[in-house]
Amino acid sequence: MAARGEFSSRTAFVLAAAGSAIGLGNIWGFPIQVASNGGGAFVFTYIILTFLLAYPVLMAELIIGRHAKRDTVSSIVVLSGPRSRWLAYLTGFWGMLTASLILSFYAIVAGWMLAHFFGAGANLLGQTDLKQWFVSNSLTRNLIFCVAFYALTISIIARGVTSGIERWSTRLMPMLLVLMVLLIAYIATQPGAAEGWRIYWQPDFSQVANPDLVLDALGQAFFSLSLGVGTMMVYGSYISKSENLPRLGASVAILDIGVAVLAGLLVIPAMYVAQHNGVTIYDAAGNLLASDSLIFTVLPALFETMGGAGVITSILFFSLMTIAALTSSISMLEVPVAYASDSLGMERRRASYMVGGLVLLISVLIIFNFGALFGLVIAFTTKYSEPLIGLLFCVFVGWIWARNEILQEIQQGAEGAENSLFWRIWPNYVKFVCPLLILLLFWRSLA
Ligand code: PFF
Repeated sequence: MAARGEFSSRTAFVLAAAGSAIGLGNIWGFPIQVASNGGGAFVFTYIILTFLLAYPVLMAELIIGRHAKRDTVSSIVVLSGPRSRWLAYLTGFWGMLTASLILSFYAIVAGWMLAHFFGAGANLLGQTDLKQWFVSNSLTRNLIFCVAFYALTISIIARGVTSGIERWSTRLMPMLLVLMVLLIAYIATQPGAAEGWRIYWQPDFSQVANPDLVLDALGQAFFSLSLGVGTMMVYGSYISKSENLPRLGASVAILDIGVAVLAGLLVIPAMYVAQHNGVTIYDAAGNLLASDSLIFTVLPALFETMGGAGVITSILFFSLMTIAALTSSISMLEVPVAYASDSLGMERRRASYMVGGLVLLISVLIIFNFGALFGLVIAFTTKYSEPLIGLLFCVFVGWIWARNEILQEIQQGAEGAENSLFWRIWPNYVKFVCPLLILLLFWRSLA
């Protein structure tokens, strides 16, 4: 087997995994869910579910990955016995398919962000016709920017773990944080922002017991931490044996929550500034506009009302979105690429172009059949596959993999792990509680 590469430091892993976790789900999905689901009540439920269900599953992925130090399919197969091998293959391939399908719709949306970024640039240069083309929804524009976004993703993945994933995550993630803080601070000074801040923090607690809200929060927590597709498992396979896994996992979860909460402080006040400036944010029935209109109509309309500062704000906002999407999309592509190179023995560069090209074809298919396929692929992957595969990961660590081997894996880099709070709670927790809770919530979602 060729050298697979390893993250060169703890920070490199945390930034790469946080880069995967922090994406459009945090900056777009989370604030909109908050705004349409009882404000602070959603934030509260989301944070609880992240610790209760998402963090334990994240740990399962990291431990399995670092143990085998192989692609996701082989990592799960290594744990299985003769009787559970079929389940290991099913889980591994289903995860890989899900990662690829998520990339196929995510890259389309990321392409829109990239197009709006260029639109803002054209606006700055006074090229209004060009700007109009960048920001109008057309087949040609969608195809061109989707391909451009794949080119970025593939070129990073082709460079490998240290020179690709690590180098770009450690460059882009600090930029993302700076951009975010700048935008929050600027929006906060605008008239109308205070109303957004108020709504954000004011929880409508009557909503906490609402099963739909709980389910949405669970889906959001899984999607946001990139769980149930093997991304975290494959990133885990590049962690050195001298690192403390429970601690690394906690850092990633906390960063992910932190950025989601920060994104709320950006997007929700921005919506109310827009409303203050005369932009419609609620439809005639009093419901918040659909989430794509909020990002691609309301926010651009807001930037228009802000004059020269709006042009700059708009460039910063869409570069924030593009960066967030890119550090996530590379982690999705890494799942099938790692399989092609670890298990099929393909050279990484070749694997990246081939697999990336194949997934791009799925995106093109979706772009041409948008109405029929876009929502379907999102529902199949995020609503059904991610929680169910997450559950299967719990089954592997809880029921199939020998517990003393799991402990030995955790002890590497975490001396005395056998006496830690983590080890006292987590093994039985992923064995019984996580699968039951996921099943219960899943059952409800079908009902
Ligand atoms: N966590 C990403 C987000 O919040 O936007 C989405 C994601 C990335 C999902 C990677 C799945 C994945 F494998």
